[in-house]
Amino acid sequence: MLSEKSRPIIEATLPIIADRIGHITPDFYERMFAARPDLMDGLFSRSSQLEGTQPKALAGSIAVFASYIVEHPDSYPDEVLSRVAHKHASLGLQEKEYPTVYKYLFEAIAADLGEAATEEVVDAWSEVYWLMANALIKIERGLYASQANNVTHAPFKVVDRQETGDNVVVLTFEPADETPMTEATAGQYISIITKARDGLRQPRQYTLLPSDKNQRRIGVKLDPNGEMTSIIHGLKIGDVVEISNPYGDLTLEGFGSADAPLYLFSAGIGVTPMISFLNELIESGSQRQVTVVHADRRMDTWPLREEMTALVEKLPHGKLVTFMEDEETGDYRGRVDIAKLGVPAEANVYLCGPLPFMKGVRSALVDAGVPAQNINYEIFGPDQWMLRS
Ligand code: FAD
Ligand code: HEM
Repeated sequence: MLSEKSRPIIEATLPIIADRIGHITPDFYERMFAARPDLMDGLFSRSSQLEGTQPKALAGSIAVFASYIVEHPDSYPDEVLSRVAHKHASLGLQEKEYPTVYKYLFEAIAADLGEAATEEVVDAWSEVYWLMANALIKIERGLYASQANNVTHAPFKVVDRQETGDNVVVLTFEPADETPMTEATAGQYISIITKARDGLRQPRQYTLLPSDKNQRRIGVKLDPNGEMTSIIHGLKIGDVVEISNPYGDLTLEGFGSADAPLYLFSAGIGVTPMISFLNELIESGSQRQVTVVHADRRMDTWPLREEMTALVEKLPHGKLVTFMEDEETGDYRGRVDIAKLGVPAEANVYLCGPLPFMKGVRSALVDAGVPAQNINYEIFGPDQWMLRS
């Protein structure tokens, strides 16, 4: 809990920090990577740094955390902490690195604020940093302790490779050593480390598709402007990569009511968590009303179309509605139009796809009376949207 001494200082300086943190974080990362270039090898994404998404996510989360604990002195923003901790754990983040981030972040704060960084301001923000760090460390310890092994990544070899949709490759991996595998829950992801063209080890996250118990299966969309998907697309049967244990809190359990009608909205490669959810619903014999809404450009750009369609058909109360932008082949032509779906206010909703798609569907659902807390989503990148809303 934030001390009574620090609270008024945080309240008074929150607007300044919120305004300056966008300048502070790039400087912080520059200082940290100059001193610790090894952190870019296998932990941080070089592209997130170049694109600036990661600095924004980290900056946003500290400001959100500080304003939250000022407003709610007796609790923490669990949703923010849980998402970050799962992401950290998937990367194998070690708690000994929290002082590293602290050192370079606070050097950058002091450099940016100059004389305004008085001892009491620095002390109060240090308190916020360590409250957040310790909360994350606690969740991360629990996540690591719940695994079937004590390694962050284990070697896996490619045993199958299929192409689907528009530039999507589905890869199946099996262990390349004796490390026991943790069973994944539908909706979870792994991080996979492969070597970039210059040899730097780079992690990326991929949602797990249903697979045999001794396998990991993922669907990877080629990003023409990205660094690692072209490498992952180039993997051949027998190639070995490093794969983490499964993490991620976007699962069917613990969200909303288990009887409420379920709406799964996906676009493009956003099918991956939905396919896992559908598989879990079938395996558990669910009698739920499930409506799957998929948006794509054309039928042939829809990744894993046959698998998804077959899963919906197996559900006792499943329905599939498609929106195809470029042709008349779906149920509807054009973008997703909520008015065509009659989503009830008590629906539980999951969204996954490009950010503009998710924002559009989410606002339309909220306008149609679905409470925002019933709408869950996965962002295939640093989660800036959650932090802004
Ligand atoms: P990156 O190199 O990470 O680049 C991403 C973007 O950064 C580029 O499009 C470009 O706009 C920008 N960029 C890159 N380099 C530069 C530069 N030099 N300067 C400026 N900008 C630059 N993806 C899937 O395909 N399937 C999944 O199931 C899936 N699940 C995911 C689950 C989670 C929880 C998360 C967080 C992500 C998931 N992703 C998934 C996304 C995946 O992790 C990768 O982000 C994606 O595959 C792109 O990887 P990349 O290395 O090719 O692109
Ligand atoms: C990702 C916050 C400490 C390494 C993130 C994200 C946030 C965040 C908000 C984005 C999550 C998402 O993708 O949605 C914090 C906070 C910290 C902290 C508030 C301290 C209190 C650390 C430390 C390290 C670290 C100590 C390691 C030195 C990373 C990495 C990512 C990440 C590697 C993934 C981003 C990428 O791929 O580049 N963190 N973090 N973080 N964090 Fe942290």
